[in-house]
Amino acid sequence: MVETMRWEAGKLILLDQTKLPQVKEFITCENYIRVRAAIKKLEVRGAPAIGAAAAFGMVLAAKEAANRPDFIGTLARMRDDLISARPTAVNLEWAARRLFALAEARNKEEVAPYKIIDEMELMAQHIYEDDIAVNKRMGMYGAAVLPDEAIVLTHCNAGALATCGWGTALGVIRQAHKQGKLKMVYSDETRPLLQGARLTAFELCEDNIPVTVITDNMAAWTMKMKGVNCVVVGADRIASNGDTANKIGTYGVALAAKAHNIPFYIAAPVSTFDFNITDGSQIPIEERKGEEVKQFRSEVTAPAKALTFNPSFDVTPNELITGIITEYGVLKAPYTEAI
Ligand code: MRU
Repeated sequence: MVETMRWEAGKLILLDQTKLPQVKEFITCENYIRVRAAIKKLEVRGAPAIGAAAAFGMVLAAKEAANRPDFIGTLARMRDDLISARPTAVNLEWAARRLFALAEARNKEEVAPYKIIDEMELMAQHIYEDDIAVNKRMGMYGAAVLPDEAIVLTHCNAGALATCGWGTALGVIRQAHKQGKLKMVYSDETRPLLQGARLTAFELCEDNIPVTVITDNMAAWTMKMKGVNCVVVGADRIASNGDTANKIGTYGVALAAKAHNIPFYIAAPVSTFDFNITDGSQIPIEERKGEEVKQFRSEVTAPAKALTFNPSFDVTPNELITGIITEYGVLKAPYTEAI
């Protein structure tokens, strides 16, 4: 399985996901600004992975803040700066706030900053390790609801690369493969940045899990023609009523699944739930620059003068969701009670 990140001698080492699958290159982050830039540029991406990266980013931020007159005030500003890198995935905020709360509480008890930083490092490492354990549990629950001879369609990348390891949606798929019940994965390429083609197909090929790449506009037809019997995707933020934000295109996949009577599952850990919002209309949707739509890397694919609309995520209403696979089991409607 590919390694997304590691914490080594007080530095965060990230696999640069923008260069995959052609080049396997690692980035060394020695300060929180570099971690923020990596999150912003999608060198590290996927909700749980940016949560863990932000946790380590907070450790680096605390090291810097410890040299300033107002340790906690400075750290609060750095936390907000990290959180502002990407607005939709709630895991980023969840992790940064957890690390900050620890620092603030220990600072009130007059613990020395260097000791606080040690404790923050332990918490960040725990978030990292826990994410892998959580994904494995989720994988077990998810594989149990997949049909035998599963032909699964997935969107974007909710795999080892989007987490600290194993994956959420791909964790379910990995577990089904281990149990011998997976026939095929159809991976939407996922325009505009091709996380499905570049990343999902890459990590499944590395692990010899059968994968067929399709373009996004082939999803409905593939469901009809290729016997897709289940859809499993990840999530960036889930509202209290089950409405779910995930990579742009997920909503269309859910509508197509409904039309074909195919179960549509979300796989996400509790850290992806936002209990402060009642429904999906309150989820902030990141809009990214138009160049991502009008070109791929340096290849121009549309006229410079054309306007663009580039929302990075959409929201799938809860009524289109068959179940939400979590580390505590599979949640079913009515979601407000189940969640
Ligand atoms: O823009 P990205 O690549 O960060 O978007 C990622 C997704 O939408 C994933 O499906 C989601 O974060 C779940 S990852 C386990």
